Amino acid sequence: MFAASTTVVTRLALVVAAVVAGGLAVASTVGGDSPPPDVGGHEPLRATAGADQRFVGVAVGHDAFLGDERFRSLVVHDFDTVTFENELKWSEVHVAPGEFDFARADAMLARAERDDLAVRGHTLVWHEQLPSWLDDARLGREQAIELLRVHISTVVSRYAGRVAHWDVVNEPLSHDGSGLRETVWSRTIGDEYLSLAFEFAHEADPTARLFLNDYDGSVEGEKYDSLIDLADRLRRDGVPVHGVGFQLHLDGRLDATTLAGLVQRASDLGLEVAFTEVDDRIPADAGPAELARQARRLGKVASICAAAPACSTFVVWGLTDGHSWVPTAFPGYGHATLFDADFAPKPAHSAVVSAFTDAADTQVEGG
Ligand code: G3I
Repeated sequence: MFAASTTVVTRLALVVAAVVAGGLAVASTVGGDSPPPDVGGHEPLRATAGADQRFVGVAVGHDAFLGDERFRSLVVHDFDTVTFENELKWSEVHVAPGEFDFARADAMLARAERDDLAVRGHTLVWHEQLPSWLDDARLGREQAIELLRVHISTVVSRYAGRVAHWDVVNEPLSHDGSGLRETVWSRTIGDEYLSLAFEFAHEADPTARLFLNDYDGSVEGEKYDSLIDLADRLRRDGVPVHGVGFQLHLDGRLDATTLAGLVQRASDLGLEVAFTEVDDRIPADAGPAELARQARRLGKVASICAAAPACSTFVVWGLTDGHSWVPTAFPGYGHATLFDADFAPKPAHSAVVSAFTDAADTQVEGG
């Protein structure tokens, strides 16, 4: 029987996901490890997070992290944690049934460890970015279970002890949150695929923290509430679920009271909370006033996490506006991240820094 651990990771990882959307990676500008002069003139998130017993990090795309020294310099200056934004997904590593190609992920992990960066894994089970050979029409239930077991066991055991957190199942709920999403896994295995995925991951690395991860397109938070219910139900059935990941892809709106309440509810149930993909898309022609409103929203999201011991991870999905997935996915929108396309910190960066600093100061005063 899995004894649900209530140990909350004491250090908050501010993980900023750096996205390389097809060929946007900036060519390498400066060789060697010394940061070029144009990054690092600002207060690093790492300092504020460290002050509050928190560390921050960046989830990075392969090309930028390994090929753009300016990009990597900002990583090392501001962050001490990395996540791989696409390189650990099925389509990237599981190239044929039972055949894996970890070259890109291995190279990124080696770089991360050389830079003393921790790693967060994303994601072991999802209905998107699946390899073209995976055809559920020809997949029986036992074959699907074995395929899932081989994938998760191979990936997690390869990085056991080196990847601290895993988004085990990404987006298990239907778009509106009214039930479980129908996927290749639910069609072939049934809803039991959820518990199997977590059990396979826990067997492969008992030290890793295992999360359910999903988005909620509303500000009412009902889908996140359903995610908490699902995680709690699985845990009560003895499944090794440690926490829930709220993706938090904002669209210019935030109900801070609802979000704080969701974090508290998850915490009361003994679940760890991760803000896994925070960004805030605003119109591409937005001016200073909209950027200031965005800063208030993202600063508030950060302060909600910083104030909650159960919130162990804060992820912004995009290192700079030039590396963000948003313009590709939402034409006419952008500016979703903490740094602009010239790698300069935006008002949102200052707001997040202040959120962590204020939280640390409060804790010191109250300590
Ligand atoms: O690797 C290929 C490359 O070979 C090809 O030349 C290029 C152009 O077609 O495409 C490259 O693959 C792209 C991949 O990102 C890597 O850059 C895919 O087309 C593209 O669809 C994929 O987009 C990713 C998206 O997930 C896929 O749904 C985004 O970068 C990534 O930010 C986004 O992240 C997801 C999270 O994993 C889960 N939560 C939602 C979030 C946003 O969709």
